[in-house]
Amino acid sequence: MTVDDLKALVRTIPDFPKPGILFRDVTTLIGDGPGFAAAVGHMADRAEAAGAQVIAGIEARGFIFGAAIAVRLALPFVPVRKPGKLPVPVLAIDYALEYGTDTLEVDPGAVPDGARVVLVDDLIATGGTAMAAVELLRRAGGTVVQSLFAIDLPELGGARRLRDAKVPADALMSFD
Ligand code: PRP
Ligand code: ADE
Repeated sequence: MTVDDLKALVRTIPDFPKPGILFRDVTTLIGDGPGFAAAVGHMADRAEAAGAQVIAGIEARGFIFGAAIAVRLALPFVPVRKPGKLPVPVLAIDYALEYGTDTLEVDPGAVPDGARVVLVDDLIATGGTAMAAVELLRRAGGTVVQSLFAIDLPELGGARRLRDAKVPADALMSFD
């Protein structure tokens, strides 16, 4: 399955969740069995090439891809969660979204010291979410060696922000 085949499986919804946002919806990609398998396979190959020891995924859509990649590579999966979900004292960070603000939390004991962490999410836009997750995973003791996304929106500059922070960033496809 080519990148163009995978791109064709992503549905675009204008003005969701706010006017002016062109929402790139992965529901239709993961709803296609061969498409989902191909996307996860490509991302898992990149995570393996980066020497991943831990896969971290960002709630919620990052869990879908991140957990599937972790299972393919038989690696531990660390959830980077939205606030109030983890039953232990957490490391927390606030961040700005393309359309609002939010908080991420991680279990400080979830990442072995110095572990090579590959961060996974469905999409990178401004990079606020991924940058916050990188900071949290570093505070938890991990080394984020790679970030992986199904979709990059390059005009919003997120992948560039990650690379400027010395975190390699890769995506399967991009939408201008
Ligand atoms: C979306 C997406 C990324 C983030 C990207 O998540 O899944 O996590 O926004 O935006 P950014 O690069 O500008 O930070 P959202 O907060 O909508 O949560 P969801 O996965 O729970 O739908
Ligand atoms: N998350 C942030 N921006 C987004 C967009 N344009 N489409 C889908 N998810 C997003």
